[in-house]
Amino acid sequence: MSELKTVRDFVRYAITQFKSAPIYYGHGTTNAEDEAWWLVLGFLKLPLTERETFLNAELTQEEQAGLTKLIKRRIEEKIPVAYLLNEAYLGGLKFYVNENVLIPRSPITELIENHFAPWLPEDEEYMNILDMCTGSGCLAILCAQYFPNATVDAVDISELALDVAQINVSAYKLEDRVNLFKSDLFEALPHKQYQVIISNPPYVDAKDLKEMPAEYGHEPVLGLEAGVDGLDIVRRILSEANKHLLPGGLLFLEVGNSADALEEAYPDLPFTWIDFEHGGDGVFVLQQQDLALIEG
Ligand SMILES: C[S@@+](CC[C@H](N)C(=O)[O-])C[C@H]1O[C@@H](n2cnc3c(N)ncnc32)[C@H](O)[C@@H]1O
Repeated sequence: MSELKTVRDFVRYAITQFKSAPIYYGHGTTNAEDEAWWLVLGFLKLPLTERETFLNAELTQEEQAGLTKLIKRRIEEKIPVAYLLNEAYLGGLKFYVNENVLIPRSPITELIENHFAPWLPEDEEYMNILDMCTGSGCLAILCAQYFPNATVDAVDISELALDVAQINVSAYKLEDRVNLFKSDLFEALPHKQYQVIISNPPYVDAKDLKEMPAEYGHEPVLGLEAGVDGLDIVRRILSEANKHLLPGGLLFLEVGNSADALEEAYPDLPFTWIDFEHGGDGVFVLQQQDLALIEG
Protein backbone atom coordinates (compact mmCIF):
# COMPACT_ATOMS: atom_id res chain seq x y z
CA MET A 1 0.00 0.00 0.00
CA SER A 2 1.22 3.50 -0.79
CA GLU A 3 2.51 5.72 2.01
CA LEU A 4 1.05 8.60 0.03
CA LYS A 5 -2.61 9.13 0.73
CA THR A 6 -3.78 12.73 0.37
CA VAL A 7 -3.76 15.29 -2.42
CA ARG A 8 -1.13 17.12 -0.35
CA ASP A 9 1.05 13.96 -0.22
CA PHE A 10 0.84 13.43 -3.97
CA VAL A 11 1.52 17.04 -4.93
CA ARG A 12 4.52 17.08 -2.58
CA TYR A 13 5.79 13.77 -3.95
CA ALA A 14 5.34 14.81 -7.59
CA ILE A 15 7.21 18.10 -7.01
CA THR A 16 10.12 16.26 -5.39
CA GLN A 17 10.23 13.67 -8.17
CA PHE A 18 10.01 16.27 -10.95
CA LYS A 19 12.74 18.41 -9.38
CA SER A 20 15.06 15.39 -9.18
CA ALA A 21 14.53 14.44 -12.82
CA PRO A 22 15.87 15.97 -16.04
CA ILE A 23 12.46 16.84 -17.44
CA TYR A 24 11.57 19.78 -19.64
CA TYR A 25 8.68 22.19 -18.99
CA GLY A 26 7.06 24.29 -21.68
CA HIS A 27 4.00 22.34 -22.75
CA GLY A 28 1.53 24.13 -20.49
CA THR A 29 3.61 24.96 -17.41
CA THR A 30 7.07 26.35 -16.72
CA ASN A 31 8.02 24.70 -13.41
CA ALA A 32 7.80 21.57 -11.24
CA GLU A 33 5.17 23.00 -8.86
CA ASP A 34 2.60 23.92 -11.51
CA GLU A 35 3.29 20.69 -13.37
CA ALA A 36 2.61 18.68 -10.18
CA TRP A 37 -0.60 20.52 -9.32
CA TRP A 38 -1.90 20.10 -12.87
CA LEU A 39 -1.14 16.38 -12.95
CA VAL A 40 -2.65 15.64 -9.53
CA LEU A 41 -5.79 17.80 -9.76
CA GLY A 42 -6.31 17.03 -13.45
CA PHE A 43 -6.03 13.26 -12.85
CA LEU A 44 -8.57 13.50 -9.99
CA LYS A 45 -10.86 15.68 -12.14
CA LEU A 46 -10.75 18.45 -9.53
CA PRO A 47 -10.80 22.15 -10.49
CA LEU A 48 -7.25 23.45 -11.05
CA THR A 49 -8.15 26.72 -9.34
CA GLU A 50 -8.99 24.95 -6.06
CA ARG A 51 -5.54 24.08 -4.80
CA GLU A 52 -6.40 24.54 -1.11
CA THR A 53 -9.87 22.96 -1.00
CA PHE A 54 -8.89 19.31 -1.40
CA LEU A 55 -5.44 19.25 0.22
CA ASN A 56 -6.43 16.73 2.90
CA ALA A 57 -8.73 14.63 0.73
CA GLU A 58 -7.56 11.00 0.60
CA LEU A 59 -7.20 9.11 -2.67
CA THR A 60 -8.66 5.64 -3.13
CA GLN A 61 -6.16 2.82 -3.65
CA GLU A 62 -7.04 2.76 -7.33
CA GLU A 63 -6.39 6.51 -7.61
CA GLN A 64 -3.11 6.17 -5.74
CA ALA A 65 -1.92 3.50 -8.16
CA GLY A 66 -3.10 5.41 -11.25
CA LEU A 67 -1.48 8.67 -10.22
CA THR A 68 1.80 7.04 -9.16
CA LYS A 69 1.96 5.47 -12.63
CA LEU A 70 1.43 8.82 -14.37
CA ILE A 71 4.11 10.57 -12.28
CA LYS A 72 6.48 7.78 -13.31
CA ARG A 73 5.55 8.05 -17.01
CA ARG A 74 6.02 11.84 -16.94
CA ILE A 75 9.59 11.29 -15.74
CA GLU A 76 10.67 8.08 -17.44
CA GLU A 77 8.91 8.46 -20.79
CA LYS A 78 9.02 12.29 -20.76
CA ILE A 79 5.36 12.46 -21.78
CA PRO A 80 3.96 15.98 -21.35
CA VAL A 81 1.13 16.22 -18.78
CA ALA A 82 -1.25 17.41 -21.50
CA TYR A 83 -0.97 14.03 -23.24
CA LEU A 84 -1.10 12.05 -19.98
CA LEU A 85 -4.40 13.75 -19.14
CA ASN A 86 -5.69 14.42 -22.68
CA GLU A 87 -6.27 18.06 -21.84
CA ALA A 88 -4.65 21.43 -22.44
CA TYR A 89 -5.50 25.02 -21.58
CA LEU A 90 -5.16 28.09 -23.78
CA GLY A 91 -6.69 31.53 -23.37
CA GLY A 92 -8.68 30.25 -20.39
CA LEU A 93 -10.32 27.47 -22.42
CA LYS A 94 -9.82 23.75 -21.98
CA PHE A 95 -9.16 21.62 -25.05
CA TYR A 96 -9.08 17.89 -25.65
CA VAL A 97 -5.66 16.84 -26.99
CA ASN A 98 -3.88 13.65 -27.92
CA GLU A 99 -0.55 12.88 -29.56
CA ASN A 100 -1.97 13.67 -33.01
CA VAL A 101 -1.99 17.40 -32.27
CA LEU A 102 0.52 19.87 -30.99
CA ILE A 103 -0.06 20.95 -27.38
CA PRO A 104 -1.70 24.42 -27.62
CA ARG A 105 0.66 27.28 -26.63
CA SER A 106 0.69 29.82 -29.45
CA PRO A 107 1.14 33.50 -28.50
CA ILE A 108 -1.38 34.28 -31.26
CA THR A 109 -3.85 33.69 -28.40
CA GLU A 110 -2.99 37.11 -26.97
CA LEU A 111 -3.73 38.77 -30.33
CA ILE A 112 -7.14 37.10 -30.45
CA GLU A 113 -7.88 38.16 -26.85
CA ASN A 114 -7.02 41.74 -27.89
CA HIS A 115 -9.23 41.53 -31.01
CA PHE A 116 -6.09 41.93 -33.16
CA ALA A 117 -5.74 45.54 -31.96
CA PRO A 118 -4.32 47.86 -33.15
CA TRP A 119 -4.24 46.28 -36.62
CA LEU A 120 -7.89 45.35 -37.07
CA PRO A 121 -10.47 48.16 -37.30
CA GLU A 122 -12.72 48.10 -34.23
CA ASP A 123 -15.93 47.77 -36.23
CA GLU A 124 -14.79 44.54 -37.97
CA GLU A 125 -17.25 42.18 -36.36
CA TYR A 126 -18.91 40.09 -39.04
CA MET A 127 -15.66 38.72 -40.28
CA ASN A 128 -14.43 35.69 -42.08
CA ILE A 129 -11.33 34.35 -40.36
CA LEU A 130 -9.07 31.54 -41.58
CA ASP A 131 -6.97 29.47 -39.17
CA MET A 132 -4.39 27.76 -41.37
CA CYS A 133 -2.79 24.64 -39.80
CA THR A 134 -5.35 24.38 -37.01
CA GLY A 135 -4.22 21.22 -35.15
CA SER A 136 -6.54 20.84 -32.13
CA GLY A 137 -8.64 23.77 -33.42
CA CYS A 138 -7.64 25.82 -30.37
CA LEU A 139 -6.97 29.13 -32.16
CA ALA A 140 -10.02 28.79 -34.43
CA ILE A 141 -12.22 28.18 -31.37
CA LEU A 142 -10.72 31.13 -29.52
CA CYS A 143 -11.44 33.33 -32.56
CA ALA A 144 -15.05 32.15 -32.59
CA GLN A 145 -15.36 32.90 -28.86
CA TYR A 146 -13.85 36.39 -29.08
CA PHE A 147 -15.70 37.31 -32.30
CA PRO A 148 -19.23 36.00 -31.72
CA ASN A 149 -20.40 37.11 -35.18
CA ALA A 150 -17.45 35.77 -37.12
CA THR A 151 -17.23 32.64 -39.24
CA VAL A 152 -14.00 30.72 -38.90
CA ASP A 153 -12.60 28.26 -41.43
CA ALA A 154 -9.91 25.96 -40.03
CA VAL A 155 -7.55 23.85 -42.14
CA ASP A 156 -5.28 20.93 -41.43
CA ILE A 157 -3.70 18.30 -43.65
CA SER A 158 -3.94 15.64 -40.95
CA GLU A 159 -7.18 13.70 -40.69
CA LEU A 160 -6.17 12.62 -37.16
CA ALA A 161 -5.65 16.24 -36.09
CA LEU A 162 -9.01 17.18 -37.59
CA ASP A 163 -10.67 14.42 -35.53
CA VAL A 164 -9.34 16.17 -32.42
CA ALA A 165 -10.42 19.60 -33.72
CA GLN A 166 -13.92 18.18 -34.33
CA ILE A 167 -14.14 17.01 -30.70
CA ASN A 168 -13.24 20.52 -29.52
CA VAL A 169 -15.56 22.31 -31.96
CA SER A 170 -18.44 20.08 -30.80
CA ALA A 171 -17.52 20.56 -27.12
CA TYR A 172 -17.91 24.33 -27.58
CA LYS A 173 -21.03 23.87 -29.77
CA LEU A 174 -19.47 25.88 -32.57
CA GLU A 175 -20.36 23.60 -35.49
CA ASP A 176 -22.32 26.41 -37.16
CA ARG A 177 -19.43 28.90 -37.11
CA VAL A 178 -16.20 26.88 -37.19
CA ASN A 179 -15.77 24.89 -40.41
CA LEU A 180 -13.04 22.27 -40.60
CA PHE A 181 -11.28 21.48 -43.89
CA LYS A 182 -8.82 18.74 -44.74
CA SER A 183 -6.46 20.46 -47.12
CA ASP A 184 -2.81 20.85 -48.05
CA LEU A 185 -2.68 24.55 -47.11
CA PHE A 186 -5.06 26.48 -49.43
CA GLU A 187 -5.46 23.69 -52.00
CA ALA A 188 -8.88 22.26 -51.11
CA LEU A 189 -10.36 25.44 -49.64
CA PRO A 190 -13.47 26.97 -51.21
CA HIS A 191 -12.77 30.13 -53.17
CA LYS A 192 -13.20 32.73 -50.46
CA GLN A 193 -11.38 35.78 -49.15
CA TYR A 194 -10.82 36.53 -45.49
CA GLN A 195 -10.35 39.67 -43.40
CA VAL A 196 -7.88 37.83 -41.21
CA ILE A 197 -5.69 34.77 -41.69
CA ILE A 198 -3.89 33.41 -38.65
CA SER A 199 -1.43 30.55 -38.73
CA ASN A 200 0.85 28.68 -36.39
CA PRO A 201 2.32 26.33 -38.99
CA PRO A 202 5.22 23.88 -38.65
CA TYR A 203 8.36 26.05 -38.57
CA VAL A 204 11.12 24.13 -36.78
CA ASP A 205 14.37 23.96 -38.74
CA ALA A 206 16.42 20.78 -39.08
CA LYS A 207 19.00 21.77 -36.47
CA ASP A 208 16.45 22.73 -33.78
CA LEU A 209 14.45 19.58 -34.48
CA LYS A 210 17.43 17.40 -33.63
CA GLU A 211 18.20 19.30 -30.43
CA MET A 212 14.69 19.54 -28.96
CA PRO A 213 14.03 18.01 -25.52
CA ALA A 214 12.48 14.52 -25.52
CA GLU A 215 9.03 15.93 -24.61
CA TYR A 216 8.70 17.32 -28.17
CA GLY A 217 9.22 13.80 -29.52
CA HIS A 218 5.68 12.98 -28.37
CA GLU A 219 4.22 15.75 -30.55
CA PRO A 220 3.38 14.98 -34.19
CA VAL A 221 6.43 15.66 -36.35
CA LEU A 222 4.04 16.98 -39.01
CA GLY A 223 3.26 19.85 -36.63
CA LEU A 224 6.91 20.81 -36.14
CA GLU A 225 9.20 19.90 -39.02
CA ALA A 226 9.54 22.38 -41.86
CA GLY A 227 12.73 21.69 -43.80
CA VAL A 228 16.32 22.81 -43.45
CA ASP A 229 15.59 26.46 -42.63
CA GLY A 230 12.13 25.92 -41.08
CA LEU A 231 10.42 27.87 -43.85
CA ASP A 232 9.05 25.16 -46.17
CA ILE A 233 5.42 25.75 -45.17
CA VAL A 234 5.82 29.47 -44.38
CA ARG A 235 7.09 30.18 -47.92
CA ARG A 236 4.02 28.51 -49.41
CA ILE A 237 1.65 30.43 -47.11
CA LEU A 238 3.34 33.72 -47.99
CA SER A 239 3.09 33.12 -51.71
CA GLU A 240 -0.60 32.15 -51.61
CA ALA A 241 -2.06 34.31 -48.84
CA ASN A 242 -2.69 37.39 -51.01
CA LYS A 243 -5.26 35.57 -53.14
CA HIS A 244 -7.18 34.57 -50.02
CA LEU A 245 -7.25 37.94 -48.28
CA LEU A 246 -9.74 40.75 -48.84
CA PRO A 247 -8.23 44.10 -49.81
CA GLY A 248 -6.57 45.44 -46.65
CA GLY A 249 -6.80 42.02 -44.97
CA LEU A 250 -4.25 40.83 -42.43
CA LEU A 251 -1.98 37.81 -42.14
CA PHE A 252 -0.70 36.93 -38.64
CA LEU A 253 1.92 34.22 -38.93
CA GLU A 254 4.03 32.51 -36.26
CA VAL A 255 7.55 31.46 -37.28
CA GLY A 256 9.27 31.21 -33.87
CA ASN A 257 13.01 30.70 -34.10
CA SER A 258 12.91 30.88 -37.88
CA ALA A 259 12.38 34.65 -37.80
CA ASP A 260 15.98 35.45 -38.80
CA ALA A 261 15.90 33.01 -41.71
CA LEU A 262 12.65 34.62 -42.83
CA GLU A 263 14.02 38.18 -42.73
CA GLU A 264 16.97 36.96 -44.77
CA ALA A 265 14.79 35.19 -47.32
CA TYR A 266 12.42 38.17 -47.79
CA PRO A 267 14.53 41.33 -47.28
CA ASP A 268 11.92 43.54 -49.02
CA LEU A 269 8.86 42.49 -47.02
CA PRO A 270 7.85 44.98 -44.31
CA PHE A 271 7.34 42.46 -41.47
CA THR A 272 5.93 43.94 -38.26
CA TRP A 273 7.12 41.71 -35.39
CA ILE A 274 4.64 41.68 -32.53
CA ASP A 275 5.55 42.31 -28.87
CA PHE A 276 3.60 40.13 -26.47
CA GLU A 277 2.72 41.10 -22.92
CA HIS A 278 2.39 37.47 -21.78
CA GLY A 279 5.48 36.04 -23.45
CA GLY A 280 6.29 34.51 -26.80
CA ASP A 281 7.80 35.92 -29.96
CA GLY A 282 8.37 35.15 -33.62
CA VAL A 283 4.92 36.31 -34.80
CA PHE A 284 4.56 38.94 -37.52
CA VAL A 285 1.72 40.71 -39.25
CA LEU A 286 1.61 41.63 -42.93
CA GLN A 287 -1.13 43.39 -44.86
CA GLN A 288 -2.65 42.03 -48.06
CA GLN A 289 -1.04 44.80 -50.12
CA ASP A 290 2.41 43.79 -48.77
CA LEU A 291 1.80 40.17 -49.78
CA ALA A 292 0.82 41.26 -53.28
CA LEU A 293 4.50 42.17 -53.73
CA ILE A 294 5.55 38.52 -53.41
CA GLU A 295 3.59 37.03 -56.25
CA GLY A 296 4.94 39.43 -58.87
C1 LIG B 1 2.41 23.87 -35.16
S1 LIG B 1 0.97 22.87 -35.36
C2 LIG B 1 -0.20 24.11 -34.85
C3 LIG B 1 -1.50 23.64 -34.38
C4 LIG B 1 -2.40 24.73 -33.79
N1 LIG B 1 -2.64 25.82 -34.71
C5 LIG B 1 -1.82 25.27 -32.49
O1 LIG B 1 -1.44 26.45 -32.44
O2 LIG B 1 -1.75 24.52 -31.52
C6 LIG B 1 0.88 22.85 -37.11
C7 LIG B 1 -0.26 22.05 -37.75
O3 LIG B 1 -0.09 22.18 -39.19
C8 LIG B 1 -0.53 20.99 -39.80
N2 LIG B 1 0.07 20.95 -41.15
C9 LIG B 1 1.33 20.58 -41.50
N3 LIG B 1 1.50 20.69 -42.82
C10 LIG B 1 0.32 21.15 -43.34
C11 LIG B 1 -0.12 21.47 -44.65
N4 LIG B 1 0.67 21.33 -45.71
N5 LIG B 1 -1.39 21.91 -44.82
C12 LIG B 1 -2.22 22.04 -43.74
N6 LIG B 1 -1.85 21.76 -42.47
C13 LIG B 1 -0.59 21.32 -42.27
C14 LIG B 1 -0.06 19.90 -38.86
O4 LIG B 1 -0.82 18.73 -39.05
C15 LIG B 1 -0.28 20.56 -37.48
O5 LIG B 1 -1.53 20.20 -36.96
